[in-house]
Amino acid sequence: MNIEASAPGKCILFGEHAVVFGQPAVAVAIEQRIHVSIQPIEGEDWTLEGTKLNPRKHPHLKMLRRLLWPRKDGAPALSIEIHGDIPRASGLGSSAALSVAASAALRAARGRWVIESEQGRVWAEGYSSEIEDTDAYTGENSGIRADIYAKKERQLLGNEALDLDECSMIGHSVEASAQGGRASPMDASTCAHGGVILLSDQIESDNDYLYQRQLEMSDGMRTWELHDLGVPKGGEEVYLVIGNTGVHAPTADQVAKVAKAIQDEPERMKEIETIGLIARRGIEALKNGDYEAVGRAMTENQVMLRGLGVSCHELDDLVRAAAPSSLGAKLTGAGGGGCMVALTRNPEMTSEAIKNAGGKALISKFGNQGMRLETPDCEPFWSPQSSSS
Ligand code: MEV
Repeated sequence: MNIEASAPGKCILFGEHAVVFGQPAVAVAIEQRIHVSIQPIEGEDWTLEGTKLNPRKHPHLKMLRRLLWPRKDGAPALSIEIHGDIPRASGLGSSAALSVAASAALRAARGRWVIESEQGRVWAEGYSSEIEDTDAYTGENSGIRADIYAKKERQLLGNEALDLDECSMIGHSVEASAQGGRASPMDASTCAHGGVILLSDQIESDNDYLYQRQLEMSDGMRTWELHDLGVPKGGEEVYLVIGNTGVHAPTADQVAKVAKAIQDEPERMKEIETIGLIARRGIEALKNGDYEAVGRAMTENQVMLRGLGVSCHELDDLVRAAAPSSLGAKLTGAGGGGCMVALTRNPEMTSEAIKNAGGKALISKFGNQGMRLETPDCEPFWSPQSSSS
C-alpha cells in the first residue's frame, strides 16, 4: 500500500528576487510535475529510492519529517520514491514541488483529526493561516492542538484531509530553512495551488485572495498577500517555452548575493523597487489579457535582473535566441544559471531557437493544475496516539 501525491513546477513571469523584499510578483504553474510516493517500512531508517536516507543531504525531507511525521510520536519509518519531469536545481521550483507533494502525501498518510462544533469543523491538528496556535515555521508541536486533540472525534481521510494552505505553508517554511531564512512563499504557493499566483504588498481583490504569509528575516519582517488568478483571459492562446542552460546555481547563493549587494549599497534598493513597478505593469496587462504588454514587461524585467547580477551569459544567449519569435523572455527563478522562460504564440519556433542556441527546451501551456493526491482512496498508515506532542 503506497500513497502518492504530485505537484507542478513553476515559472516566474515577473518579480523574482524583488519578491523576497516584499515587492509584487507573478508565477505560473507549468505542465512538468514531481511525484512523491511513500510507504511504511520496518525498522528505524527512512529510505529514498531504496537507499538509507541521509537527512543532511536532504534537508527538505528532514524538515517535513519534523513537521508531519515525528519519530518521537511513534511514526513508522517510510520508504520514499520520487519521480517526475521537472529538471532539478534549475529555477523551476523542483524543491518546492517536492515539499508540497511530500507534505500532501504525509498528510494523507496520517489523516486529519477534527471535531465538529456548532461553529463548524475545528482542526485538532494541522497548519493553517487561519490557526494561530500551530506554527509550520518552527514545527514545535508537530501541528497538534493538544486541548482539541484530546477531544478528537472524526478523522478526515484522502482528499478530505488535504489542505492547499497547509501544503503551501509547510512548503514555504521548508524553502525558507533551505535558503538561509530568506524565501518568499511564491514557489510553494504556486506548486500547491497551480494556475497563476500573484503576490503583492496589498490585497488586490477580494475575489481571488488566498491568504497572507509572513516571515521574519535578518533585515526585518516581510508580509505577502497571495492571490490565485486562475488562468487569466486569453491564457489558452499563449505558451511558455523554458530554456535550460544546464548550469546549476543554488537558489540560496543567488538570494544571498542580492541581499549582500543591497546591504553594501542600500541605494540599490531602487532597482528592487523598479522590478516591483515593472511587475505591477505586467500584472495589469495580464489581467487585461494583453499578452504583448505582458511580454514587454518580462523583457524589461530581464534588463533589471541582469543589472542585479543574477543573469549569466548562458541565460543571456538563450533569452536573445528566443526573443525574435516570442512576446518576451527573461530568466526564471534565482538565476546565475538554470532556466529562462519565453512567452510565445509560436512554441515550436521558440523551442527550436533555444535548442539551436545550445539550451534544452520544454514547452508548457499557461497555468496548470496544482497539487494532486494520486491515490485518493488511501487509508492512513499512522496517526499520533495522544496529545502529548
Ligand atoms: C526562486 O524561485 C525565486 C526567488 O525570488 C527566491 C524566492 O522567491 O524565495 C529568487
